[in-house]
Amino acid sequence: MKVRVVDDEMFATTAATALLVNLPPDRPRLGVATGGTPMRLYDELARRSSRGEIDLSGAVVIALDEYLGLADGDPHSYATYVDEHIAGPLGIPAANVHVPQGYGDDPAPGAAEFEDRIAEVGGVDVQIVGIGSNGHLAFNEPGSALDSLTRVVELSEQTRNDNARFFGGRVDAVPRRAITQGLATICRARSILLLAAGQTKAAALAAALRGPVGSDVPASVLQRHGDVTVIADRAAWSRMS
Ligand code: PGA
Repeated sequence: MKVRVVDDEMFATTAATALLVNLPPDRPRLGVATGGTPMRLYDELARRSSRGEIDLSGAVVIALDEYLGLADGDPHSYATYVDEHIAGPLGIPAANVHVPQGYGDDPAPGAAEFEDRIAEVGGVDVQIVGIGSNGHLAFNEPGSALDSLTRVVELSEQTRNDNARFFGGRVDAVPRRAITQGLATICRARSILLLAAGQTKAAALAAALRGPVGSDVPASVLQRHGDVTVIADRAAWSRMS
């Protein structure tokens, strides 16, 4: 595991550099997390792209997860996040953007289909992930099987509380269910970039990187992956030293 612990103002540029060195130049397949932390990386990529320093318009983008129960085009959906913060600014056409989706009353087939979709594009070159304050990875909450695949999940109260900040502070507006790539799905990516910032992530990060590998701390599965880079700010790293 490679680790870079940085001051806050270096976080986005360090993350961008770590991402770009690991991306193949030709049609890179980029796995994206859609939380608050990676937004700093996407803003940095957008800046570099607008200055003509990078060209990711040929990339394929694969999202980790999506809420269930939001209307198409809902501003809180991760599909909208990917359009606004990643595909739009980087000039990636919609045909190359893949976000899990549940159809109608039964979202389970959409989840299973997403596994095939990832395989069809040839897998993920670099997967960007964050970590939940409860140790979740994507929407794999504590208790998730380490060999889990893309599926429909219930969100924990802690995750819904943490994410209420994106819904105007209203916990009741945060969906209760989601589709998420599983822990095994995520670990198939060739390389993983874990971004963690802020004191609220310190305990979870230490448990994930130092503690035993197991379902109680889903992000601990990353210890089993052979190519993980961690970018953490000093607050997130504070329980490691
Ligand atoms: P955050 O979320 O980047 O919005 O803090 C990370 C996560 O919950 O996985």
